[in-house]
Amino acid sequence: MLADTPGAQAGKDAHWRERDLAVLWHPCTQMREHPDVLPLVPIERGEGAWLHGYDGRRYLDGVSSWWTNLHGHAEPRIAAAIARQAGTLEQVILAGFSHAPAIELAERLLQLAPRQPDRAPLSRVFYADNGSAGVEVALKMAFHWFRNRGEEQRTRFIALENGYHGETLGALAVGDIPLYRRVYAPLLAEALFAPSPDAYMAAPGESDEQCALRAADALADLLDRHPGEVCALILEPRLQCAGGMRMHHPAYLRRARELCDANGVFLIADEIATGFGRTGTMFACEQAGIAPDLLCLSKGLTGGFLPLAAVLATDTLYQGFLDDSRERAFLHSHSYTGNPLACAAALASLDIFEADAVLERNLTTAARMAALAAPLAGMRHVADVRQAGMVLAFELTRDGERHTPFDPALRVGLRAYRAALERGVLLRPLGDTLYWMPPYCIDEAQLQLLAETTAAAITEATACA
Ligand SMILES: Cc1ncc(COP(=O)(O)O)c(C=O)c1O
Repeated sequence: MLADTPGAQAGKDAHWRERDLAVLWHPCTQMREHPDVLPLVPIERGEGAWLHGYDGRRYLDGVSSWWTNLHGHAEPRIAAAIARQAGTLEQVILAGFSHAPAIELAERLLQLAPRQPDRAPLSRVFYADNGSAGVEVALKMAFHWFRNRGEEQRTRFIALENGYHGETLGALAVGDIPLYRRVYAPLLAEALFAPSPDAYMAAPGESDEQCALRAADALADLLDRHPGEVCALILEPRLQCAGGMRMHHPAYLRRARELCDANGVFLIADEIATGFGRTGTMFACEQAGIAPDLLCLSKGLTGGFLPLAAVLATDTLYQGFLDDSRERAFLHSHSYTGNPLACAAALASLDIFEADAVLERNLTTAARMAALAAPLAGMRHVADVRQAGMVLAFELTRDGERHTPFDPALRVGLRAYRAALERGVLLRPLGDTLYWMPPYCIDEAQLQLLAETTAAAITEATACA
């Protein structure tokens, strides 16, 4: 096959960009910024950590395509598993019917789920089809469980400041990122917000652990002020992702678990972003030695191939819905609940964790990320380089200290995004927070490219200051 000439490739790129801009409305985008402020990049194919454009350019995926991809793009084993499943059973109603991939995946997830001594393990799996839908399921389950028991005054959720759980109205109600939430506030159920244990907010001289425990004391106060009103606490363990890749000490999670137990409140761990090895362990809860009552999984669940969510629940929760009345059942449903193709992809992804000893290999990769980021920490505008496993993040600030932000009008993060893209690396800063969250298959040369490009992008982006 003759390769396209550069002219033909550029033509294809422009062709798709033009057609896109005529019909698509992109997520999380001010469409007016396309294409002048924000370039639009049509992608023809993916391979490993690379995304290939129609114009022959390639981009290293430094953010795992919105934190979904684990083992690389178009990973052949997952692609083959989906193809096999597609030739067998593509979809079947999951009410009244069942299928092997949904059952096997549930069994394996329950085996892998975080455990806590003297605590009944998570023992039931409810499927949904994206992260936000999974969060809705968990919130509704917690609320409905208390209704079924006649505790109708337990109508409130506690969430953490700076947390994020998705964009549907229930998920937004327990999120605290003003950019996504503010305009819809009149539509949202009123949650209670507890201070974030975010180590970035530590007072001078305070350790990460002390900061976390101070936040836990505030959580205790909040629970005291609302006795018998709260059905669940929802949080992102170890890492508030959309909130700027903010990390906290696991001591917070241990205290939060105790406080939930002491107040008869369910603990919902949203591991949609942190699950499947992102923070170093299979699930972030493991780092605190705790198990939640409800565990929300999505994103990396299918290795990043297909949308799927799983909500794992305890037997106590499950039993609370068994009744002669249909209304006491959990009637929530989505058409594609437990889609066989998505379940097959998830099973193939779990096989890869075993076959390739992914968590062990990630230890080495994470150590390389730390080493390659060390020189960045010395750059003039870089503050608070931090890492949790396969996530490394830092702030761009005026003088390289915490809490000295650039004027938002400068859009330093966006400048860094564009500078990296021009050099063939996809970084997608959250405001002025830059981070690396690459596919686990990233190799040494790619890691070096990521680090060199990040340094160049920082220099270029901050030259405006
Ligand atoms: C922690 C967390 N929860 C929930 C969601 C929502 O998932 P989805 O985008 O699939 O709706 C996200 C998405 O970024 C997330 O990071």
